[in-house]
Amino acid sequence: MTAQNPVFDTLVRPYGKAAIDEAAAIVADGWPVAVPTETVYGLAGDATSGQAIARIYAAKGRPSFNPLIVHVLSLDDAEKLAEFDSTALALAERFWPGPLTLVLPLRAGARIASLATAGLGTIALRSPVHPAMRGLLAATGRPLAAPSANASGLISPTRAEHVSASLGGSIKLIIDAGPTSLGLESTIVAISRGETRLLRPGPVTTEMLDIPLAPAGERGIEAPGQMSSHYAPSKQLRLDATERGEDEWLIGFGRVIGQSSLSPSGDLVEAASALFDRLHEAEAAPAQRIAVAPIPKEGLGIAINDRLARAAAPRGTC
Ligand code: TXA
Ligand code: MG
Repeated sequence: MTAQNPVFDTLVRPYGKAAIDEAAAIVADGWPVAVPTETVYGLAGDATSGQAIARIYAAKGRPSFNPLIVHVLSLDDAEKLAEFDSTALALAERFWPGPLTLVLPLRAGARIASLATAGLGTIALRSPVHPAMRGLLAATGRPLAAPSANASGLISPTRAEHVSASLGGSIKLIIDAGPTSLGLESTIVAISRGETRLLRPGPVTTEMLDIPLAPAGERGIEAPGQMSSHYAPSKQLRLDATERGEDEWLIGFGRVIGQSSLSPSGDLVEAASALFDRLHEAEAAPAQRIAVAPIPKEGLGIAINDRLARAAAPRGTC
């Protein structure tokens, strides 16, 4: 197997200019770093790089590719990535920078890796207030995708020590700025077609939001780990295919050659970063059905298989 989850001698640096510069160089190189925000420590990577996003999932050992929150310095930067209606603008102006995440329609042509949004037509955006995350955003000049910096299934880290205990050896660097002030993940609000829904309660309470919210659950749970907003192709999808069947578009992997490939060399990081792009391509192809080569069920391959299984399931079952 390709070493998609190498073992690192994880560095812990006190927050300061030297740490930010070191972290920015690692991010520019396509690797994630742990950095505090006002809510929890995040595992931040370049949101424009599929490889960087795949490495976030690999480090966390996430069994599925949930869409990630993309962090930006300002509303101006956010508007380059998403469509803001008047409600979204008003919320951003009131609560940014701060612990409010807005899920909005992805702007056409936005340079965001499809793995960061899990192939959805929406993007979760947040402008954090913590100087360490802001310093890293400024130093990299990139939007940074950052889930909480904990191994999948474990509670969110509010101290550098929590990150070390959970991800030590799986990531290159942790910036330590002491305990986070809020200790609770950001409030997530989705705005679509004039309707505002609370997807995750958080430090910005409904009282603070003070706007009409559509009844929760009306359109299903969307966060965390929401099933309804997972990307699903409209075409039938066959898994573990070693040959192309009639009227199929085969997405290859390793030695299985198809019309396209997740990774000709069998690299799981490359495969994860290409997954949603290849699925979208297959969806647009003239063939009526899609087939995908077997992906090893280990490491990042577990998340890839999870996503493929969901995409292959009949609509409405997941
Ligand atoms: O406070 C926070 O929000 C922290 C810090 C690091 O900023 N980040 C965080 O990320 O909690 P994470 O990945 O643990 O949670 C992201 C949540 C997930 O529940 C995901 O489903 C939801 O955001 N999400 C992201 N994009 C979405 C989208 N397009 N539609 C619906 N939900 C989305
Ligand atoms: Mg989390």
